[in-house]
Amino acid sequence: MPAYTLKINGSTQQVDVAADTPLLWVLRDHLNLVGTKYGCGLGLCGACTVLVNGEAVRSCQLPVSTLGARAVTTVEGLDPAGASALQQAWHEVDVPQCGYCQSGQMMSAAALLAKTPRPSDDQIDAALAGNLCRCGTYVRIRKAVHLAAEKTANA
Ligand code: FES
Ligand code: FES
Repeated sequence: MPAYTLKINGSTQQVDVAADTPLLWVLRDHLNLVGTKYGCGLGLCGACTVLVNGEAVRSCQLPVSTLGARAVTTVEGLDPAGASALQQAWHEVDVPQCGYCQSGQMMSAAALLAKTPRPSDDQIDAALAGNLCRCGTYVRIRKAVHLAAEKTANA
């Protein structure tokens, strides 16, 4: 098996896996970063969303061999203590229902807020359109993104 050196959540990790192994399974099965979820495996649901150099990417569709030196951030990397504005906002708004889609939602929101610090409703909806929630938490997600933006602006 080839060895890959990956930058994950600010640290360097080495994994020995087949070249076509999706990043999702490297994270979950090899690095025990199980906050990133498997939903469809087809690039359709967004449950597996992580940041790659700041861009929201579906990790189920990204072969590990294509990552190179790009930096990966998972939900665990937002803030291990849960103290980021985004995590606090999610908690305060009590967004999750079953919770399964939420790490993907948060990573798409993180990518949005990094580029658009005070997004409109339409910008939030557009940025998170690819993240499906079977529990229908979309209204709370939008509220939490606005709250996270507010917290960041006032920090
Ligand atoms: S598990 Fe990757 S998009 Fe659904
Ligand atoms: S909270 Fe259940 S799928 Fe989104």
